[in-house]
Amino acid sequence: MADVEAALDAAGLKNPKVREFVKEYAELTGAERIEVVSAADDARLIQEALDAGELHPSGEGLYYSRSYYKDTARSEERTIVATNNELDKGVYNNWRPASEMKPMLHERMRGASAGKTMYVIPYLMSPPGNALAPWAAGVELTDTRTVVLHMIRMSRVAAHFLDELDDPDHFVRAVHVTGDLENLGQGTEADQRYFVTVADERTILHFGSSYGGNALLGKIAHGLRQGAYDGWASKKFLAEQYMLIGIHDNETGKDYHICGGFPSASGKTNLAMMLAPDVLGERYHVSFYGDDIAWLWVDEESGRLMGMNPEYGVFGVAKDTNERTNPTALHSIDPGTHAIFTNVAYNPTTGEVWWEGRTPSPPEEVHGWLDWTGSPLADRKDSDSSPWAHPNSRFTTTLANVPNIAKDFDAAAGVPIDAIIFGGRTRDREPLVRAIHDLAEGVYDGLTLGAEATAAAEGKEGVLRYDPMSNRPFMAYGEGDYAQHYLDVVGAATDQPIFAHVNWFQRGDDGRFLWPGYRDNLRPLLWLLQLRNGEVEGRQTPVGIVPTKEELNLEGVDITPEDLDTILSIDNARWQEEMANRAEHLEQFERMPEAIWEAHRRVAKALEDDQG
Ligand code: GDP
Ligand code: PGA
Ligand code: MN
Ligand code: MN
Repeated sequence: MADVEAALDAAGLKNPKVREFVKEYAELTGAERIEVVSAADDARLIQEALDAGELHPSGEGLYYSRSYYKDTARSEERTIVATNNELDKGVYNNWRPASEMKPMLHERMRGASAGKTMYVIPYLMSPPGNALAPWAAGVELTDTRTVVLHMIRMSRVAAHFLDELDDPDHFVRAVHVTGDLENLGQGTEADQRYFVTVADERTILHFGSSYGGNALLGKIAHGLRQGAYDGWASKKFLAEQYMLIGIHDNETGKDYHICGGFPSASGKTNLAMMLAPDVLGERYHVSFYGDDIAWLWVDEESGRLMGMNPEYGVFGVAKDTNERTNPTALHSIDPGTHAIFTNVAYNPTTGEVWWEGRTPSPPEEVHGWLDWTGSPLADRKDSDSSPWAHPNSRFTTTLANVPNIAKDFDAAAGVPIDAIIFGGRTRDREPLVRAIHDLAEGVYDGLTLGAEATAAAEGKEGVLRYDPMSNRPFMAYGEGDYAQHYLDVVGAATDQPIFAHVNWFQRGDDGRFLWPGYRDNLRPLLWLLQLRNGEVEGRQTPVGIVPTKEELNLEGVDITPEDLDTILSIDNARWQEEMANRAEHLEQFERMPEAIWEAHRRVAKALEDDQG
């Protein structure tokens, strides 16, 4: 048995509640050693992981890792929000009683870390001193070294965050036990995995995966699920799966901030790292605040809606990242950045990595390359056309490596929000951009976000489904209560943000994307800000305001006039079909505010009137 007291003393971790928590789970999991870590331990832990074969070198200051082949994405079915109040049950949060789930998880964790080290990761999910910092402290316990290395990149890790708390008991208790990955029955009837957030006890218990989305508990479990629950319970804030960017206009000297939710693997990281198109580069600069999570609150003094990114790093999708689509992302994983690649293709001789879309075709000399499972590509049958890299393969890098990181990304104040956008992979119907001035209609639009599922979650790639506010996998409590809380928080702001729905993914009959996307996505966003400033009028449609061709800056954009017409038009019949589905979708939810239903009826009526 580990000497917990000695390890905590050695690390100078004084908070008595943290010490109790570590002791409890050290005993339960039977870990052999306890090690408290901080960001300063990174180099040593990297070396240990290299020596142990958990990481492999990928050139100067870059690393490669592989997760178990049945453990490569978030598992939505096995993810549960448990509380002591059945009223917290929603449609998407897989609610179960805390009294059932806690003992079940404890049983699975009992003795499961025998012979292993339990790492104690004290972290903060906010810039230090932020108004929401009281909800941002946590301690993750994990039995997996690569999880520590990822947490150090993705969050602020230091013991003092836990010793400085006003209330020593107010931190999130997060426990991660990997378990025996080869015998967990992933995806079968006998699946042993469970990813549970006991939200009203601020306790996270994850068993059965070491994939980032299931194992980096500061990020998704705390940053999103627990944060959302806390924001609602305290009536103070929202925790959303949003990117957050700044746009600086050199001509007027003005700064704008836009946040927005797109489902996983639908373009948040790329938007946040966006380099302005060449023709607009002199005038506009996009800066990165966050790419996956934003916490929003109203500043008591100014009355403005504010946002901040609780994370400290980027866990980005590798696929299609290249010089043309996202040069910024490539620089954030340059040699010397200490970035970690997961589940891409790897060449152990040269240390090179590759993923689909990195270059137009894979490396010519196949010899020496391993696919994401570690199988030599030279041994592949010609008939095997499966990708070299897993479609959800990732890179992990810390914010300081992001070339367009905002100067004030770490500032306590956060930034005022001018616009909130929703989007996703939607093949048809959704135009490039449509703006919505009204809060209830904006929230209604987010709640009815329909998009294709992606490889970031197990199982359902390509299936069209509703993903309310891009939060479906992270919903912590009932959707009706969520809608009301959203209306209350944003409604309290003095200067209301403009809402918009965007779609970079409309396709032609031949399956090609109609809009070039990536850097050109700045153009519809600039139009949105101009609309908010009253500099353009757009064209009023039943589902919002759409830009005219003249208003949109299209200089140098590679698009045919026909495709442009398609992505700027509203197909009334198609939309009316959608309205029936939306009504059914909304009816599932309890306590949906009347304001949301009114918005729905307004849009439905506008569509009917417009048809005639
Ligand atoms: P996130 O998971 O929401 O952060 O999404 P990412 O920004 O990582 O993008 C996910 C995938 O979508 C990647 O393969 C990107 O290359 C691709 N993607 C991102 N933005 C665009 C776009 O504007 N157009 C197209 N066609 N693909 C995009
Ligand atoms: P993503 O982040 O949204 O950038 O894919 C990870 C996730 O949501 O699983
Ligand atoms: Mn995400
Ligand atoms: Mn992302």
